Amino acid sequence: MAGSSESRRMRPDPRQQRALGAMDVQIWIPRAGSSVPAVAATAPVPPSAALSMEPDPAPGIMAASGPELAAWTELRAEVAACTRCDLHKTRTQTVFGTGSPQARWLVIGEAPGADEDRQGEPFVGRAGQLLTEMLQAVGLSREQVFIANILKCRPPENRDPKPEEAKSCENHLQKQIALLQPGLIIAVGRIAAQNLLGVDTPIGKLRGQVHAYEPAGIPVVVTYHPAYLLRSPGQKARAWEDLCLARSLVAPV
Ligand code: URA
Repeated sequence: MAGSSESRRMRPDPRQQRALGAMDVQIWIPRAGSSVPAVAATAPVPPSAALSMEPDPAPGIMAASGPELAAWTELRAEVAACTRCDLHKTRTQTVFGTGSPQARWLVIGEAPGADEDRQGEPFVGRAGQLLTEMLQAVGLSREQVFIANILKCRPPENRDPKPEEAKSCENHLQKQIALLQPGLIIAVGRIAAQNLLGVDTPIGKLRGQVHAYEPAGIPVVVTYHPAYLLRSPGQKARAWEDLCLARSLVAPV
């Protein structure tokens, strides 16, 4: 019934409405008196309990404590000291990743860009802002997922990661995945998808199906990189489909 607590619950909050708008997703909100359910586009996800920011020594890792915090702290320090490839010579700092250690969704991008290299956090530039809106469109804050990259250091001039750089960095990501044990991985962009899946298939063929990250068998959904979506906004509808597929597989919180 319109105006009932159920229909109000289904109505996206203003932030989610703005994010859906940024993804060019149409929202249908029925008039008062209508018996149609309030929203066809999406159902908001309740905020997670894991939102409080944990201070140093593991900045960006929310609400971890005890042995879990120690393990994250140790891994973060290992990554910060890494000199396995030449990218350590040109980085300002490593970009470890941020989010909740209880996150069920792990979002994996390509590599830090200039903004991320400066700030030490993944996806903080323009593409990052769109990624934040993509997450908000499905009712999630950045703090409710974990966001990381294939590479922890910025490639000069934002060039594509070299295969040997991805190989050198692979172990860091494997350890992050082992600690997090996500229910689902969202591979954002071609580089992330191809490296995670060990294939060279074009992204257009990888998206729209469910893959597996082995050997753990974690489901992987591939979507377009937000930097590509900024250049090709007509593809946002496909990215929205990918997020809906992800949400249908594993509840994000
Ligand atoms: N692009 C990425 O793939 N990762 C970032 O962290 C920023 C931009």
